[in-house]
Amino acid sequence: MSTETEAGRKVAVVTGAASGIGAATARLLAKNGYAVVATDISPAVHELERMTTLVLDLTDESANARLVAEAEQTYGRLDAVVLNAGTAAFSGIEETSIAEYDRIMAINVRALVLGMQAAVPLLRRTRGAISVTCSIDGLLGKPKLWAYAASKAAAVNLVRSVALELASDGVRVNGVCPGPIAQTGMTAHIERDAPDRFAAMGGQVPLQRWGTADEVAAAHLFAVSPRSAFMTGAMITVDGGVTAGTGVCSPNDAQ
Ligand SMILES: NC(=O)c1ccc[n+]([C@@H]2O[C@H](COP(=O)([O-])OP(=O)(O)OC[C@H]3O[C@@H](n4cnc5c(N)ncnc54)[C@H](O)[C@@H]3O)[C@@H](O)[C@H]2O)c1
Repeated sequence: MSTETEAGRKVAVVTGAASGIGAATARLLAKNGYAVVATDISPAVHELERMTTLVLDLTDESANARLVAEAEQTYGRLDAVVLNAGTAAFSGIEETSIAEYDRIMAINVRALVLGMQAAVPLLRRTRGAISVTCSIDGLLGKPKLWAYAASKAAAVNLVRSVALELASDGVRVNGVCPGPIAQTGMTAHIERDAPDRFAAMGGQVPLQRWGTADEVAAAHLFAVSPRSAFMTGAMITVDGGVTAGTGVCSPNDAQ
């Protein structure tokens, strides 16, 4: 289940690590020398060398305590936390039940709060860093995705506020805002079931394509590594340019 670490090796926790962006981030951190505790509610978390896996529902307070305890007991420290687990549902304001709204907020906001509360005491000791998978949908509105967009907007200002609170302790907190990322648990069905729609969505991106989970993982690695030592409370958009403009004018319109 777990691997031994060399003394002093940096230790990371990654949530939502069974697929998509979380799996790519866990892989990239391990490749870059981190010992990784990878967790998901799904048992499909792929265990690599220098990686411990845990199946947890992170909306539960005790699960977050267990996650952080695992990092400390197995590896002796905690340097980096990537809070990435998330969920979404397409439905209009009148059709969405309050139970569904509560489910989305529990995973996308409550679990972030619980993860931060559990991890911060250990991160203070290492002057470590948190990186949260937010979304460009937390920066701009989106029809029929209001609950998700509201939850991601909450994530954005949670990151900024906690970053300010912890800055004097040397603990950094940043967010990564992906645009459309292909081949994840949330999006694979679009390419599979609606290839025309998939192509059209890629065509709306200024860089003319969907992004990859590895491209988002690279931003998380930067956000938790010492290379970003002067960055806190920031949102890194990894969106092919979607949020760079108003979206009402394509390059062809300018000719
Ligand atoms: N794919 C995109 O286009 C896109 C764009 C912007 C933001 N995001 C965000 O990226 C993050 C990762 O999503 P993804 O696209 O890789 O999809 P994904 O479905 O592959 O990954 C999400 C993971 O979170 C896990 N999860 C859900 N509820 C959980 C819970 N209660 N406890 C523990 N784990 C739980 C899921 O099992 C899943 O493995 C999410 O926060 C999502 O909102 C994705």
